[in-house]
Amino acid sequence: MAILEQAANALNDAKTIVCFSGAGISAESGIPTYRDGTTGLWAGHSHQQMETARAFRQNPRLIWGWYLWRRQQAVRAQPNAAHLALSELVRRERPIPIITQNIDDLHERAGSLEVVHLHGSLSSSKCFACHRPALVTPAPIPEEGLLVEPPRCVRCNGKLRPGHVWYGEDLPAGTWKSAVSLVENCDILLSVGTSGVVTPAANLPEIALSAGATVIHVNTDDVGSGAPNELMLIGKATEILPRLCSPLVTEDHA
Ligand code: OAD
Repeated sequence: MAILEQAANALNDAKTIVCFSGAGISAESGIPTYRDGTTGLWAGHSHQQMETARAFRQNPRLIWGWYLWRRQQAVRAQPNAAHLALSELVRRERPIPIITQNIDDLHERAGSLEVVHLHGSLSSSKCFACHRPALVTPAPIPEEGLLVEPPRCVRCNGKLRPGHVWYGEDLPAGTWKSAVSLVENCDILLSVGTSGVVTPAANLPEIALSAGATVIHVNTDDVGSGAPNELMLIGKATEILPRLCSPLVTEDHA
């Protein structure tokens, strides 16, 4: 049996499906993945370099400029066929939950209702000094430039920083617990567009396999671990997911 058909049958038989997504699902919406190099204004700058507390302390204007550029990319992007296919998958009369490492809001804009953001969201900012959330979200299409002065916290006058998770920081309180609970209780984890290198998020497929679930990977590269209850679908998420989540599997068979 072709692997796509095998995966579609497994999805169709499953009572509980959870999706786990990474940057690859938004790549075809025009948001580069973490492993893609940067081009244009930001050529030579890397996520690992720019998204740390140390970098912000050293050069807040550069890091705020980078953040506004990333927000701008996300605001201008549109959900693609992969986000839409997932938003239409239903089990037990409710849409499937999505655990995402992405800080864009393309799953929500595609219509998905239950989205757990492991690494937070580009739409939030908070104070670097007092850590409280900003009361006002920066403008959606902001000033473009390498160096932009961060706005100030209205409570303590500290500099605002992006609200999403930086390298070396803990995940938002409660989100990891929710993600593990979803993964431990699913029949299928559909893992889409993630390289599986950044922990703890990268441990979720392994947690699902240990709990007895099947893991279906959708990726342009082979990212499977070779476990017996894993299926590896190689190709673009926008091409594979609409075929996988066909009208057959959008019906509720629970
Ligand atoms: P990565 O950039 O590490 O990996 C993207 C994955 O998507 C790769 O495995 C690609 O092969 C795959 N891919 C690319 N285009 C695709 C397409 N059109 N269809 C399907 N797959 C495609 O992104 P993540 O795994 O999401 O963390 O990265 C995980 C975390 O690392 C991020 O959330 C971020 C980063 O450091 C933080 O910022 C804390």
